[in-house]
Amino acid sequence: MQDYNNFLEEILIPTDELQSRITELAKQINEDYQGKNLHMICILRGGMLFLADLMRQVDLPHTIDFMAVSSYGSGARQSTGQVRIALDLKEDIHERDVLLVEDIVDSGYTIASVLEMLATRHPRSLKVCTLLDKAERREVEVPIDYRGFTIPNKFVFGYGLDLDEYYHNLSFIGTVNPDKYQPPE
Ligand code: IMP
Ligand code: MG
Repeated sequence: MQDYNNFLEEILIPTDELQSRITELAKQINEDYQGKNLHMICILRGGMLFLADLMRQVDLPHTIDFMAVSSYGSGARQSTGQVRIALDLKEDIHERDVLLVEDIVDSGYTIASVLEMLATRHPRSLKVCTLLDKAERREVEVPIDYRGFTIPNKFVFGYGLDLDEYYHNLSFIGTVNPDKYQPPE
């Protein structure tokens, strides 16, 4: 696997900016969910680091659950519009105040389908918290209730987001220089 320094174009969001924005988002969530039945759902795998950092600053009682989805068709980086549940929730969300925690909203197909699927289970409320919003790429309209950063139309990696399955672990968000990147074999 290539050292990311070989293809890192720029650090788009450094660690300290990520963390201070997450603090602000958590503050907002703390205010908005007072007295509610907050249930945070992380969409695996990209949302993992974001959920872990966010929930440490949510000082209301809350529960968490995980789900994984995959898009139909090939091309992991291109949503086809159709999404299926690869790993379903463990808990029933009926009457809960569900907050979906996502790494990035790109075309919007993933979140749109997840919202549609979850709505049929009758949560009390259903909102979206995404760390990144690649707004230029939106193909379907999705309501975003909490947004960390709006980013340009560039492929990003790190802080939960992978590049061909690797680099989830980095503490910052970087952009890729496609001329210098070699996919793993
Ligand atoms: P959407 O369905 O097009 O909104 O795509 C959302 C999913 O595609 C995200 O949950 C990510 O897993 C993935 N994705 C989209 N853009 C990027 C990116 O720039 N880097 C890494 N993953 C991305
Ligand atoms: Mg994702």
